[in-house]
Amino acid sequence: MKKKKEISKKIYDMNQDERMNFLKKDLKLSSKEIEILKDLPKNFTFDNINRMIENAIGIIPIPLGIVNNFVVNKKKYVVPMATEEPSIIAAANKAAKIVSISGGFTAECDDSIMIGQIQLISPNINFQNLKKKILKNKQLLLDIANSKSRSVQAKDIQIRHLIDESQNKMGEMNIIEIIVDTKDAMGANVINTMCEAIAPKIEEISNGKTILKILSNFSTKRLVRAKAIFLKNEIGAEIIDRILYAYAFAYSDPYRAVTHNKGVMNGIDSVAIATGQDYRAIESAAHAYASISGKYRSLTKWTKSKDGNLIGEIEIPLAVGVVGGIILVHPFVKTSLKILNIKTAKELAMIMACVGLAQNFSAIRALASEGIQKGHMKLHAKNIAITAGARGNEIDNLANKLIKEGNVSVNRALELLEVVSKK
Ligand code: MEV
Repeated sequence: MKKKKEISKKIYDMNQDERMNFLKKDLKLSSKEIEILKDLPKNFTFDNINRMIENAIGIIPIPLGIVNNFVVNKKKYVVPMATEEPSIIAAANKAAKIVSISGGFTAECDDSIMIGQIQLISPNINFQNLKKKILKNKQLLLDIANSKSRSVQAKDIQIRHLIDESQNKMGEMNIIEIIVDTKDAMGANVINTMCEAIAPKIEEISNGKTILKILSNFSTKRLVRAKAIFLKNEIGAEIIDRILYAYAFAYSDPYRAVTHNKGVMNGIDSVAIATGQDYRAIESAAHAYASISGKYRSLTKWTKSKDGNLIGEIEIPLAVGVVGGIILVHPFVKTSLKILNIKTAKELAMIMACVGLAQNFSAIRALASEGIQKGHMKLHAKNIAITAGARGNEIDNLANKLIKEGNVSVNRALELLEVVSKK
């Protein structure tokens, strides 16, 4: 334990060369591997990335792609998506094309309302008395919170009584919640600052002790709802019924629902990463929301309209921002936002929800028909062909041969390449 601490402290103080020497000597990285780490994209210096995170040693690139003609609320977007999974952009693309025939996705979004929580332990305080005192001082608390930001607004204060349900039985506590409209920011920093700013006043008012002061990532007041119609004439009546079976499975069985929702998040996370969002916050909120009924269920809903078309809907909490944070410092994120051509966090959230729905459609459509391996294998085979050394036209030719033979492996790809080169 002590040794580990010593190493990480030393790394913090090391410059780039010293860190590379450490990796070479202590972890036996080869010169080639060191070169991979040192080979930073043009817009990043070692100092940049070392300011972004602690103990930086390099950058791990993820491909960035786009989906063109993605129509939301009658506006056409070019959506940037960053992902390493080969089929994700193709899947979003396919669904977007089909939905555009019926007029595109429609979406609506709540205001950017987030909650900050202050945990107050005060064993001798009666909840009703405390509530009265806190609410009497509500304006004062809001003023203190609002002194911390010009753009973001703390709007309300609420209070809840809580009993420890853990094995430790720590007893009763009160949770003071501050309701904040973060507008176009994701809002984590400003809410945390506000919580910390009002905590001393809360202690003074209550004679209690505050412990945690932090935003809640369960952003249930910041929901997005999106909808799309997939015309029967475009996708076929039979597949619609099969998709409804896929939905029934996901709605009713958490083991399937987790995978179904993973497909939804494939799309949402890819846009989140491209636009510099806190995708961990988005993920944790999404999965908690999937369980809001008491059972973990599908985040999307699929039904059939009277005229036999497929209707897809999604409702999901999405705390995203288009100002502040990494958006100011990350050149790729700035560029992605420019490609998307949006001005508000709400617009971004609506696009993301639609991409999640699109992604889910393509996944369950494939699963309910030919299965996903056929499409996945096509893309996977190309990667295998490249890994084996194929270049240019060779890639598609070799990938097709591997698929035809039903043996998509590097070994077989190498064998086939060798045959070609001997000819
Ligand atoms: C793979 O990344 C995502 C899927 O498993 C989603 C699903 O099963 O619905 C195809």
